[in-house]
Amino acid sequence: RLDVTETFHRISFPGHLHTQESLSYATGFQFQDSDTLIVTYPKSGTTWMQEALTLVFNKGDSTLAHSMPNWARAPWLEQYYCPEVLRASRGPRIITTHLPYHLLAPALQGSKAKVIYVARNPKDVAVSYYHFHKMANFLPEPGSFKEFLSKFLSGTVHYGSWFDHVKGWTSQARNKLNFFYITYEEMWQDLRGSLERLSTFLQCPLVVEELNSVQQHCTFSAMKENSMVNYTLIPEEIMDHTKGQFMRKGKIGDWRNTFMEEQNRNFDEVFKAEMQDSQLRFVWE
Ligand code: PPS
Repeated sequence: RLDVTETFHRISFPGHLHTQESLSYATGFQFQDSDTLIVTYPKSGTTWMQEALTLVFNKGDSTLAHSMPNWARAPWLEQYYCPEVLRASRGPRIITTHLPYHLLAPALQGSKAKVIYVARNPKDVAVSYYHFHKMANFLPEPGSFKEFLSKFLSGTVHYGSWFDHVKGWTSQARNKLNFFYITYEEMWQDLRGSLERLSTFLQCPLVVEELNSVQQHCTFSAMKENSMVNYTLIPEEIMDHTKGQFMRKGKIGDWRNTFMEEQNRNFDEVFKAEMQDSQLRFVWE
C-alpha cells in the first residue's frame, strides 16, 4: 500500500515519501547562506514558486524549467531523496519544505538563507487538498468533502494544521530570518509585480525581456503544459491522472463552488478563534 502514514512529532506525513530518517535529516539540516528555502503548507503555490525561482535565477531562460522536474530542481527537504539530489546539485540551492516552523527553527537559527513563504486562502487550500487526496494514492482516502474539511480544520490531515503552519512561519520566524512573504492571491492578481518583488529580494535583477519570459513561463496555462511541473511524469499507480489533474483549476475564490453555507460559517468561526493571536491580515475574503 502506498498510503502508509509516518508520524513525526505528532504530525502525520505520507510514508511513501517520508521516513523517520528523512524527517530527522530535515530537522538537523545544515543550511548554507546561499540557500533559498521555499516554505508552504501543501497546495498553497509551492510548484508555482519553484517555477518562478528557477526562471528568475536563470534570467528567464527556460531550458532548466523544461528539462528537469521540479522535485529535482528544488527538492523537498523532508522527503527521502533530498540528500541524493543535493549531492548532485551545483551552484546555489533551492530547497522546498512543507514543515511547520517549530520543526525547522533550530536548523535555521542564525542562518542567512533566504526564506520565501507562500500563503493561500485556506478555503481554497482545503478544496485543492481534497481533490489532490483523490488522485494521489500516497494520501489517505479523503471521504466526503465534509469529512475532509473537518480533519483540515482540526489539523489532523497530513503535514498538520494550516493555522499552526501560517502562524509559526509568519509571526515567530519572520523577524528572525531573511524572510519574504507573499500570497498565492497576490501572485494571481499581479504576477508581474510579484515576480519583480521576488527578483529584488533574491538580488537577481531582471531586464524587461527577461521578466517577460519569466512571467510567460509562470502562467497557469504554460505550467499546465510543462511536464516538468505538471506531475504527468509520475506513474499512474502513484498519481491517478484519471481522477484529476495536479494543475487543476489555478483559480482564487473557487472554494465558493464547493463550500456549503454552514461549512463556510463553521470555517469562519474556527479561523477567527485560531487566528485571534495573529497580526496577519489577509487580502482574501
Ligand atoms: S503541492 O502538492 O503542495 O506541491 O501543491 P502546490 O504546488 O502548493 O499547489 C497546487 C495548486 O497550485 C495551483 N497552481 C497554480 N495556480 C495559478 N497559476 C499557476 N501558475 C499555478 N501553478 C500551480 C494548482 O493548480 C493547484 O491549485 P488548484 O486550486 O488545485 O488548481
